[in-house]
Amino acid sequence: MVWQADPVDASDLESDLAKTLITPEEISDRLAELSRDIERDYEGKDLLLVGVLKGAVMVMADLARSLDRHIEMDWMAISSYGSGTTSSGVVRILKDLDTDITGRHVLVVEDIVDTGLTLSWLISNLSSRGPASVEIFTLLRKPDAQRMQVKVNYVGFEIPDEFVVGYGLDYDQRYRNLRQIATLASHVYS
Ligand code: IMP
Repeated sequence: MVWQADPVDASDLESDLAKTLITPEEISDRLAELSRDIERDYEGKDLLLVGVLKGAVMVMADLARSLDRHIEMDWMAISSYGSGTTSSGVVRILKDLDTDITGRHVLVVEDIVDTGLTLSWLISNLSSRGPASVEIFTLLRKPDAQRMQVKVNYVGFEIPDEFVVGYGLDYDQRYRNLRQIATLASHVYS
């Protein structure tokens, strides 16, 4: 007999969730739209997608497969948040790129931009390596990010200033495997 894991079902986690903000269908439709924009904008150019671990794993996988062109992928892991819901302001490289990005067109793929602290640091770090261009894709953007200096080229969804989980985003390393973007019930935090 072949053992098969049950597919992850959001209903198993339902009691921990307060509200679904974005459904899986909405995510996939929006990624398809933005993929067409990216294909047009990068026509005739090489494209290196740089995912920021771990939150961007899901969006990177789906965005990459939605792009109908050659791409390369690389990953960086940086620390920004601790285990709570507020930014620590400390950014540290935990895993650097394997790729030399000199002369490359880099598109950073982020899960969420909140204060923009992490992203500002990342952009200046990558820019110092001599790429042909560095642009930013984020699935989600919170209101505070509007005030940041760095231009975000592709935004999936503008969301309210609430802590969200799912589709790669975690609370204490959990909930990344939800297919939707949701807020958590208050009992989870207590
Ligand atoms: P920033 O530096 O404040 O823009 O924070 C960016 C990082 O914080 C993201 O890449 C996430 O890892 C994390 N983060 C920010 N807001 C949320 C949220 O609502 N849920 C889960 N993680 C978040």
